[in-house]
Amino acid sequence: MIVSNRLPVDHVSGEGEDAVWRTSPGGLVAALEPVMRARDGVWIGWPGMADKKVDPFVADGIDLIPVPLSAKEVEEYYEGFSNDTLWPLYHDVISPPSYHREWWDAYQRVNRRFADAALAVAAPNAIVWVHDYQLQLVPKMLRDARPDLIIGFFNHIPFPPYGIYSQLPWRRQIVDGLLGSDVIGFQRVADAGNFARAVRRLYNYETRGNLISVPIDESAEKHGQRHTAVGRRGHPVRTVLARPFPISIDASMFQQLAHDPGIQARAREIREELGNPGTVMLGVDRLDYTKGIRHRMKAFGELLAEGTVTSEDVCLVQVASPSRERVEAYAQLRDEVEITVSRINGDFSQLGHPAIHYLHQGYPREEMVALYLAADVMLVTALRDGMNLVAKEYVASRIDQDGVLVLSEFAGASDELRQALLVNPHDIDGLKGAMLHAIRMPKRDRMRRMRAMRKRVLTHDVQRWSATFLDALVREDHSDPANNLDIPKRVMPAGSYGE
Ligand code: G6P
Repeated sequence: MIVSNRLPVDHVSGEGEDAVWRTSPGGLVAALEPVMRARDGVWIGWPGMADKKVDPFVADGIDLIPVPLSAKEVEEYYEGFSNDTLWPLYHDVISPPSYHREWWDAYQRVNRRFADAALAVAAPNAIVWVHDYQLQLVPKMLRDARPDLIIGFFNHIPFPPYGIYSQLPWRRQIVDGLLGSDVIGFQRVADAGNFARAVRRLYNYETRGNLISVPIDESAEKHGQRHTAVGRRGHPVRTVLARPFPISIDASMFQQLAHDPGIQARAREIREELGNPGTVMLGVDRLDYTKGIRHRMKAFGELLAEGTVTSEDVCLVQVASPSRERVEAYAQLRDEVEITVSRINGDFSQLGHPAIHYLHQGYPREEMVALYLAADVMLVTALRDGMNLVAKEYVASRIDQDGVLVLSEFAGASDELRQALLVNPHDIDGLKGAMLHAIRMPKRDRMRRMRAMRKRVLTHDVQRWSATFLDALVREDHSDPANNLDIPKRVMPAGSYGE
């Protein structure tokens, strides 16, 4: 069973047979949808609209169990605690987090509802895989009610260093909620390290390598708990495995789309529509302050202002899909981005050659692959990002082995895609340099880098990720599972936030 805040589809309009659904936004759904389509199981989540009661249904071969949220819960649990407290806190406080006790109350209530929905349908010894920061209390709620369940948790976003995490007034409760899991997965080595440190600081539990020893009482041990042992302090403990499992994409699906002649024709058409510039640079993000969209635009604007590039030679296509629009920080970001786009276009566009093509819209996967194929340079300049699947999608789509990826070292993907042009997006001169390097890079160098990155993404896809996680989850013995995700050793670039 998967439990996540969102179902893979959002309700748009209509009822019953006439209901209209569309694919939900974001990396979590993009990654989990192919995993669930290939397996038997249910997906428990919110259908994306307030006050909407929907009966369980099947979409694209996946059994879905909708969990309703009232308008007030959307405001306090989803927009509030999840996306105005935890999201900014876990992303290096790029935007200041708000702490409100009513939001915390709503978070607890809604986590309980998700746990109850799972408990209502969980068979004995079922595997329950809980996802992301919106539901961190669910693992413990499940374990307290049903110690027979096998409980996994995967955190799709970063886990912050203790100096930042410790701001959270409910820091102990969240850690306790997560420790209800058998296995807790993180994107990066640094995230797992940050979590272990928070456990030691807040609870003084023993940690050894990837294993955390959680004290239990004798009766729990008798009730068939898995992974029990005698801890070094002589008390019975339950061990929790907390380690990195870097997520990926359905790479072969992107490859297949890239081979489609219709999509290739669309890619050529896109370049023509853009006026056949020498270089097309592309950004694809949810409109989120973590993504570094303004830093990217500032760097591009300066290159235009200096005359190093012109809007005839180089254009930037920025897809910024609408996201969390009722949260103040997002509304503000939209204004800032849109003012920046207008200024740059006003100053540097030429008739028929806008410098920036700004698209505040979401697109189907086919159009995204056409855009990836049309783009000479892909700009992923996140200030902090759990993984960033767009970087991997670009690489998987480039069946011609061409194209340059400019990638922030603050995105999890930079641990694996070492042949990208790695940048610190706060360093605007460095970012300009990387853009120019990408624009001018000889084809041989482009192909050498792209080939190496493709090898990594094609062999480490989302199927392998989920198989590895589930293998660790069902294993009777937690001790040192094989690291078959084979995370490169040199994973902490300068400026990394891990230590
Ligand atoms: C990120 C998060 C997901 C979330 C997605 C879209 O990928 O890790 O949990 O679903 O963004 O955000 P939204 O708030 O629209 O669900």
